[in-house]
Amino acid sequence: MGIREENRRLEELDKKYIWHPFTQMKEWREETPVIISEGRGCFIKDIYGRWYLDGVSSLWVNIFGHRKKEIDEAIKDQIDKIAHSTLLGLSNVPAVKLAEKLMQVLNSSFIPSSLAKVFYSDNGSTAVEVGLKMAFQYWKHKSVDGRNAFVSLKNGYHGDTIGAVSVGGVDIFHEVFGPLLFKTYKAPSPYCYRCELERKCSDCGLACLGEMDKILYAHSGEIAGLIIEPMIQAAGGMITSPPGYLKGVRELCSKYNILMIADEVATGFGRTGKMFACEHEQVVPDIMCLSKGITGGYMPLAVTLATDDIYNAFLGEFQELKTFFHGHSYTGNSLACAAAVACLELFDKERVLENIREKIAILGRWLQEILGRPHVGDVRQAGLMAGVELVRDKKTKEPYDRADKMGWKVACRARDNGVFIRPLGNVIVIMPPLSISGQNLGKLLDVTASAIMDVTEKGGSS
Ligand SMILES: Cc1ncc(COP(=O)(O)O)c(C=O)c1O
Repeated sequence: MGIREENRRLEELDKKYIWHPFTQMKEWREETPVIISEGRGCFIKDIYGRWYLDGVSSLWVNIFGHRKKEIDEAIKDQIDKIAHSTLLGLSNVPAVKLAEKLMQVLNSSFIPSSLAKVFYSDNGSTAVEVGLKMAFQYWKHKSVDGRNAFVSLKNGYHGDTIGAVSVGGVDIFHEVFGPLLFKTYKAPSPYCYRCELERKCSDCGLACLGEMDKILYAHSGEIAGLIIEPMIQAAGGMITSPPGYLKGVRELCSKYNILMIADEVATGFGRTGKMFACEHEQVVPDIMCLSKGITGGYMPLAVTLATDDIYNAFLGEFQELKTFFHGHSYTGNSLACAAAVACLELFDKERVLENIREKIAILGRWLQEILGRPHVGDVRQAGLMAGVELVRDKKTKEPYDRADKMGWKVACRARDNGVFIRPLGNVIVIMPPLSISGQNLGKLLDVTASAIMDVTEKGGSS
């Protein structure tokens, strides 16, 4: 069979068998799927040999580009030893080394870090499930009754498992599952561009924090924990929080004796310009969820960090059943942990946090420029994470209809020009690997700007 026939066969097989995530399969089947066969640096290549700049880090996971020598080698070395053994009743060398490395990283970031215990799982959603269950069970062990609910934010996104959806706040993803979800109190999103309290950002005095205070005041006896994406609500639309907001949330959690769960699944590992987003406001949460970038975008792995106080509450005699009854088949997978150790070592070796400063500045300047376009309503940035919100009418902030699929049209146009991006509704997301060169960042931004202008100003579609 020739290469063309084999490629066609793969396309047909994809359409016949694969149910893609977050994808309307009716539309998918009407188009030709792009099937990736290779990657190198910031680029991915499809089966026809076309290269695309990976503008969203393969869904926000990739840090050092594809086929990074050190991570490739760490996985190959580990595979010559063992790929996987269970963490239930056994330990393994890479899992132990990664825990040590994580502590070093945390201690050089948070001063001093009280997040001293590492619980492994496989992905961002499970890291969140673990955090929620830990918080919930913690109060039982402390003999505090009634703390059966959580506080989360509108526009928050914490994953797709049922616990994570319960604390989610993106209606189009989460509403349909309503009857399955547990009780949460929803605090306003710090979405200054579309403030639900109808306040002006410049003089609001963080009114959304005031609303959160009211919820906590009224219900603190029912609340086990508060979960938040620090500094930026990512999947909810790249919504950055105003200065002082995160610190204010920490203060409220302390005031009402509620566990603060920081979901750093998207923001962790340098994305916001610091190793962890909590560092921007010197906040130390009680529980922290990490995943995505932890392996440099190579392997599924997640970590839920907890304080000694939380961990200690689970200590007891066997028959007391204080054990944390949670675990997954692949928890602490050796290959994934080896990849993560290599990834974290590279942060120091390549001085990643220093080297991204200039790129963050370039992205910031580009955002200010694109804000001048007639259909760009707002731009938001946290480090190398950015969102460009497209609007039908800039004066009134009227959004495009969902059916207009403006975000998609922009992404398709960019893809035709060799850049892969994936929008969130009307928000164009830019989140390249941290290792992207200045030149490739320039290409990503040029192509995206042209796509935005073509689609919103000239009515171009793909
Ligand atoms: C903040 C946040 N939490 C949790 C998740 C869920 O992670 P995963 O898709 O690995 O389950 C995501 C995914 O985008 C996320 O952005």
